[in-house]
Amino acid sequence: MYYSDEVVEEVRAGNDIVDVIGSYIRLQKKGANYMGLCPFHGEKTPSFSVSGSRQMYHCFGCGTGGNVFTFLMEYENFTFPEAVKQLADRAGIKLPEEEYTPEARKRADRRMRLLDINKEAAKFYYVRLKNDAGKAAYNYFKRRGLSDETITRFGLGYSDKSGGLYQYLKAKGYEDEILKDSGLFTFDEKKGVYDKFWNRAMFPIMDGNSRVIGFGGRVMGEGEPKYLNSPETMIFDKSRNLYALNYARQSRESYFLLCEGYMDVISLHQAGFANAVASLGTAFTGLQANLIARYVKEVYITYDSDGAGQKAALRAIPILRAAGLAAKVVDMKPYKDPDEFIKALGPEEYKKRLQTARNSFYFEIDLLKQEYDFSDPEQKTRFFRETAKKLLQFSDELERRTYTEAVAKEYQISFTMLNRLVEQYGSAEMPGEVQKETEYRERKRKKPEEGYYTSQKLLLTWLTTEPALFQKVKGLVTAEDFTDGFYYEAAKEVFEQYEKEGKVTPARILNRYETKEEQTKAAELFQTTLLGDLGETQKAKAFAETVRKVRQNSIEMRMGRAAETGDIEAMQKAVTEQASLDRALAKAGL
Ligand code: UTP
Ligand code: MN
Repeated sequence: MYYSDEVVEEVRAGNDIVDVIGSYIRLQKKGANYMGLCPFHGEKTPSFSVSGSRQMYHCFGCGTGGNVFTFLMEYENFTFPEAVKQLADRAGIKLPEEEYTPEARKRADRRMRLLDINKEAAKFYYVRLKNDAGKAAYNYFKRRGLSDETITRFGLGYSDKSGGLYQYLKAKGYEDEILKDSGLFTFDEKKGVYDKFWNRAMFPIMDGNSRVIGFGGRVMGEGEPKYLNSPETMIFDKSRNLYALNYARQSRESYFLLCEGYMDVISLHQAGFANAVASLGTAFTGLQANLIARYVKEVYITYDSDGAGQKAALRAIPILRAAGLAAKVVDMKPYKDPDEFIKALGPEEYKKRLQTARNSFYFEIDLLKQEYDFSDPEQKTRFFRETAKKLLQFSDELERRTYTEAVAKEYQISFTMLNRLVEQYGSAEMPGEVQKETEYRERKRKKPEEGYYTSQKLLLTWLTTEPALFQKVKGLVTAEDFTDGFYYEAAKEVFEQYEKEGKVTPARILNRYETKEEQTKAAELFQTTLLGDLGETQKAKAFAETVRKVRQNSIEMRMGRAAETGDIEAMQKAVTEQASLDRALAKAGL
């Protein structure tokens, strides 16, 4: 973890969840809790509940929930450390500085200064745009349909004909030595130093935290290159940043729009699509895909509609897939790109194109088909062979089958035929060893069955909601018995809290998890009190059954591991535990 457990807990405890959430949405007191309209799904009657005593929230409508960190991560799309930082600021808690080696300190300082330089440059260009000198650039943006609000939001500017950035920054005290590394100037032995961007409409490029890290500069009219970009510097790595990510990450949509160009992104944002991003004048990378996957699960590729754009989409699709992102491709024909489309037909029509966007797999097959002449049986056969190979990329059997069926239907080939092809390639292309290895891993992963995990979850829920039960399992169950990594973490925290404080603070358990998904999953532990609905006898029986399952599974897992590693001692211990399990349960009154 980035910050120590103590610090994280101090920050959490220092921010009352009712206050924090109350500053985002209207909350009304209802009994012991506060209720409001859930910000995470559209609703007209409040089902979003915030508990001051538990310091957690839960939506009865969409099931989401968590502590004060989870809320900021969901609402602001913050990462865990970002949420900690924000709430530390809010509560006036000073976070410990990271420990730096002298080398690292120097590099961090340099990065800071480069960020300062870029920020100053952005301001400089922005002011120029609003001056007389910038009239032409301002008119250029206006001609392209941008409002003043948009110009400000994206910090657009102008690098004028007389230069002046170099002198400006020198006067501010920056040395050549660091200015050289900023990428904003050309240092020429004969001609001296001059601004790299000259008479261009300027697009500052910001990172996810709205810090300027570089620029793109467009010629106003014709000229080469159309866009001149900052070179890569210590702070500007084109492969791991996305244009407008700082805004897109705050949008409420569950998907991003992936564009080719700066202007496409800006037009889309102005038209109300705040989830548009673009790569930075280079091909889309895996690092960028991973970055996107931190915020959404799906991407709509909205590249140029020409051949080059289609090719670029074909290249981006597997990269997105590898990052676990689902992809669709938006068709903008007969317009060239989103910017032109929006200008011609408006946002409503664009929305329709999003609704009819093609699933990326079909998009790939459509393009593949264009390479073959279907009137020639041989070519047609080759097309199906290629398609069968592509279908193999779906490792999930059900998914592969569904796609095979759909493709068979759309391209009028019998499903049986196509499926046989797929299976043929499947066994031919996957070397026996690899296949066995995957099967083995699958089997291992599936054991223990789901039922055990459910028991682990239930036991945690009951222990945390009915503290009296904790006494019953003391000495019988430990955190180590929770064989699922996720529940093990929660159990460790629960047991520690009981031992140290004799009670459990639910919201604190969530501190252990750094992703929204995990925190939400952990929050679920406190939302179900199944025991409440049962009679006393049934309740005792259900509880005993759950404890037994958890113990039983724990013993079996250890036995299995001992057998694999040949650890005789561990094996004997597990066997003894197994033999005395009934007795131990009975002794605990279970
Ligand atoms: P396009 O050539 O498709 O331009 O380049 P565009 O976005 O439609 O630009 P406008 O509408 O004519 O202003 C797409 C992206 O490729 C990068 C830029 O990031 C651009 O936004 N690019 C393009 C460059 O970096 N350099 C270039 O010379 C051209
Ligand atoms: Mn364009």
